[in-house]
Amino acid sequence: MKEYGLYLDGEWRKPATGKAFVTQNPATGEALAFFLGGAAEDVNQAVEAASRAFPAWKNYPPPKRGEILLKAAAILRHRKDEFGELVTKEMGKIIAEGKGEIQEGIDFFEYIAGEGRRLLGETTPSELPNKICLTLRQPIGVVGCITPWNFPVAVPSWKLGAALIAGNTIVFKPASLTPLCAAALIEILEEAGLPPGVVNMVTGSAEEVGDAIVRHPGIRSLSFTGSVAAGKDIYAKGASLLKRVGLELGGKNPQIIMDDADIDLAIEGALFGAFGTSGQRCTATSRLIVHEKVYKEVKEKILGRTKSLRIGNPLDPEVAVGPVAGKEQEKKILDFIKIGIKEGANLLCGGNKITEDPYGKGFFISPTIFEASHGMRVTKEEIFGPVLSLIQVKGFDEAIAVANDVEYGLSSSIYTRNVSLAFQAMQALEAGLVYINAPTIGAEVHLPFGGVKSTGNGTREAGTEAIHEFTEVKSVFVDYSGQLQKAQINES
Ligand code: UN1
Repeated sequence: MKEYGLYLDGEWRKPATGKAFVTQNPATGEALAFFLGGAAEDVNQAVEAASRAFPAWKNYPPPKRGEILLKAAAILRHRKDEFGELVTKEMGKIIAEGKGEIQEGIDFFEYIAGEGRRLLGETTPSELPNKICLTLRQPIGVVGCITPWNFPVAVPSWKLGAALIAGNTIVFKPASLTPLCAAALIEILEEAGLPPGVVNMVTGSAEEVGDAIVRHPGIRSLSFTGSVAAGKDIYAKGASLLKRVGLELGGKNPQIIMDDADIDLAIEGALFGAFGTSGQRCTATSRLIVHEKVYKEVKEKILGRTKSLRIGNPLDPEVAVGPVAGKEQEKKILDFIKIGIKEGANLLCGGNKITEDPYGKGFFISPTIFEASHGMRVTKEEIFGPVLSLIQVKGFDEAIAVANDVEYGLSSSIYTRNVSLAFQAMQALEAGLVYINAPTIGAEVHLPFGGVKSTGNGTREAGTEAIHEFTEVKSVFVDYSGQLQKAQINES
């Protein structure tokens, strides 16, 4: 079995004091590779390498940086099936989604490579004659990227791609459940021609490696996707060092079905949103808020469709629902299901771990639907698994009120044929993403991605905002009058 160390200064190295761990296939229990995790000392080395690489990378023309990202995109495209399978094997999402994730990486690298020819600033007149003002976008320096296991290629591609095109160098810590996908991405960037030291990868625990990245004074900016608890901790520690912190945290995403909706379409959307990636997306649909006039019909139809979903090995293209990503994840989801039952939510289907063969060695939970009342914990807290709560409401106003009455605000959706309601919902839903007649998952990379309330701290990834996360703005004043002109004081 292949063994990986840390990727520092353009080479794979053994950590100072490595703690070995194995990455596994969550569907079969098969061990995939060995990793040697790092510690604070290795983070120091990564920061040193990134700091040394920074001046040259900063001065390397952005369109040339873009060429490297385009090359990486081409490698991903050429080997999409292979890398898609790797995502499926290591993370457990079904193969169509594994390949979709690679496509998301390709899309983002191609999109952001074009920013190398933009990185737009502003030019504006001055309040004084013979003087002009402009802004430049410049890299921040060494940035820290800490990424989750649920999108082990796509989310790192957003963070690394945007940080790189902007001219930063990087210390990257991938999730410990999916380091092999991260290692593959590193190898692709290397093959695409990324100079040594520009990206450095340190695997290992959040407590040691993550914390060392967050506290390292040489890292000026942090970009994190993960849980609210970890996000708050990173934000607080980052704040004490006046670091820039970008956070993308949890969700409790609602899909509303109005009485005039195309019900069958809405149900297909809900199934994809709730059980796609076994519910392990920040954007997953976890609440189906249904108008009372169509509630019975929705309930019957979604139950029927859910029971027909094929569960199994995610490499099998016929399978609709794969495993959850690991033992800890499985326990947390099963515990939440118990909480739902205890607080009186009506378990309509699923709710159990599947233990019989061929599932015995994997982490399979059958797609679960609760009939719940708004306010129960299963309707308010993020579960991050294949668990959907049906909530009945009297009409549009109540639907919006229920949708908004949670701590989070990442994604949201409404199915209606009423244009007026669609536009009202667009304005009223407290979320960073709103879908009209489409599920809550599947954001496209050229739009900003992120959320409101406890989902983050106002930053956005991807899209036109991606550059903002990874650049400083510099204001420049060019006086060509040949005289001392005093702003606010000169009168002409
Ligand atoms: C995430 O779950 O952190 O919109 C990212 C989506 C995907 C990205 C999800 N494009 O569902």
